[in-house]
Parts: sequence; structure tokens; C-alpha cells
Amino acid sequence: MPNTLRLFDISGKVAVVTGAAGGLGGAISRGLNAAGAKVLAADICDPKVAFDQEIAFLRTDVSLRSDVDALIEEACNRFGRIDLMVSNAAIGGGAAAEKETEEGWDKVMSVNAKGPFLCASASARKMIPQGGGCIVNIASVLSFLGHPTAVSYCASKGAVAQLTRTLAIEWAKYKIRVNAIAPGFFRTAMNAGMLASEELLKPIIAKTPLGRIAEPDEIVGTVIYLASDASSFMTGSVVVVDGGDLAAGGYTDLTLPYIYDTL
Ligand SMILES: NC(=O)c1ccc[n+]([C@@H]2O[C@H](COP(=O)([O-])OP(=O)(O)OC[C@H]3O[C@@H](n4cnc5c(N)ncnc54)[C@H](O)[C@@H]3O)[C@@H](O)[C@H]2O)c1
Repeated sequence: MPNTLRLFDISGKVAVVTGAAGGLGGAISRGLNAAGAKVLAADICDPKVAFDQEIAFLRTDVSLRSDVDALIEEACNRFGRIDLMVSNAAIGGGAAAEKETEEGWDKVMSVNAKGPFLCASASARKMIPQGGGCIVNIASVLSFLGHPTAVSYCASKGAVAQLTRTLAIEWAKYKIRVNAIAPGFFRTAMNAGMLASEELLKPIIAKTPLGRIAEPDEIVGTVIYLASDASSFMTGSVVVVDGGDLAAGGYTDLTLPYIYDTL
């Protein structure tokens, strides 16, 4: 293999992926497996499309410490170590802020923010004596932008970005790199409602410079990059994969003319 390609080599690495029954988690699990990693996929639900035999699966609720500890133990018992933790599981939350309930807030925060913390700390307890590892948290463009009717989700994704930065500086001394990926709008079940409506989809496409939504496989390259030596000097970063959405500052319709032309 040429040296530059070897930089991206993750073959033989042991990876755990949460939320693996979903759109991005399924793509990440299959993508890592195709790149030669040994994958333990986890989700609170069984996958709708079964994984092939090379990908192991364990039912896991990431909001429960006992489940997460059992997941990491399973990876180490089965494969002997853990090199990569991809914390991808999350749920949406769709209430107007003034109507969001305490239960709704707690549920979203426990899966989306506590889940990645539990997964990171259980992984680190194995990675520290191993001499290092990589953690990749799946954040969101809503780690940076506010969005109406998503108060708990936005708060939880802001927390994922801060969790990533804090763990990165704390665990750098153990050679554990902690980074996050902030996806824009991807075609997954989480967006089923919007994907079913031309009317709702049109403004999303109009505000995205690349002029389309993303397919789940388009997240895989960035995960491999962050898991490999190609990113050896990166830690504490939140890498945006959003078709240019954030660069446009959430500008609502990029097909509109530049208004200052008329002044
Ligand atoms: N799809 C997008 O446009 C988009 C944009 C930004 C960020 N994200 C993030 O990407 C990640 C993946 O989302 P997706 O779009 O694939 O959604 P998805 O709904 O297809 O997948 C999420 C998965 O998480 C699982 N899950 C929910 N609660 C769980 C729990 N307690 N324990 C374990 N698993 C649990 C679900 O069963 C589901 O399979 C999430 O972190 C999401 O916030 C997605």
C-alpha cells in the first residue's frame, strides 16, 4: 500500500458504533467494516436490514451505564481491545420551547448527551491501559446553530461539542484523541417527516450551498479519517459535514439575489 494510503488504514482496528440500526450508524458500521475494522454495532432497536456476519451486534441503551459498560466489555472480550468508539445514537425532540416537558428534556439529554459521556468514559477506562484510542462523537450543525422547536435537541448537541473538547484536553496525555463530526441534513429516519414533504425539503436544499441533502454513506470518509493516523494531530475538533450549510450562516435561501446590489 502506498504510504499516503497507509495513513488512512484502519484495518484490524476494533470499533464500537452506537445507534447502528439507524441511517448514519448503519452506514458507519458497514463503512468501517469494509475498511477492514472489526465492528461491534449497538442500538436500542434491532437493525431493520440485518448486518452481514462480520459485524457483531449488541442491544444497548446508551443512556444506561450498565448497558454501556456491558457493551465495552463485549468488544474487549470478543476482539481483545477497543480502538475506536463512535457515539452516534441520538433521538430528536420536537416541542416548542415553552411546551417542552421535563420528561422530554431529560429523555433527550440522557440519550444524546449522557450517552456519549458514558460511552467515552467506559471506552477510556480500556483505552488508558492499552496506550490510546480514538473517540468520535456525532454532533450536529445544531451544536452551533439554534433551531425553533428543538430546544432539548440543540442543547444536547451543544453539550456533545463541549464534551468532545473537554475530554480531548483531559485525555490527550493518554493518547486518546476525541473529535466530533457535525452533520448537516442527511437522508435518514430521523428526518422522515421532512423527507416526506416537498414543501419542507425545498428551503433546506435552498439554504445548502451544494444544493442537495446528503446520503448516509457520505459520513463514512470523515469517520475513517478521524479514526486513522491521517488525523494524528487532531483532537478536540468538531468537523462539519454539511454541504456548506454552516459556512452560509444558516442563510435561508441562497437562490435569492445579493440584496446590496440594489442599493
Ligand atoms: N440525519 C441528519 O440529518 C443528522 C443531522 C445532524 C446530526 N445527526 C446525528 O446523527 C446521528 C445519527 O442519526 P440518524 O440521522 O442516523 O438517525 P436515526 O434515527 O436513523 O438513527 C438513530 C439511532 O439511534 C438509536 N437510538 C435511539 N435511542 C437510543 C438509545 N437510548 N440507545 C441506543 N441507541 C439508540 C435509534 O434506535 C436509531 O437506530 C445522531 O446523533 C443525530 O443526532 C443526524
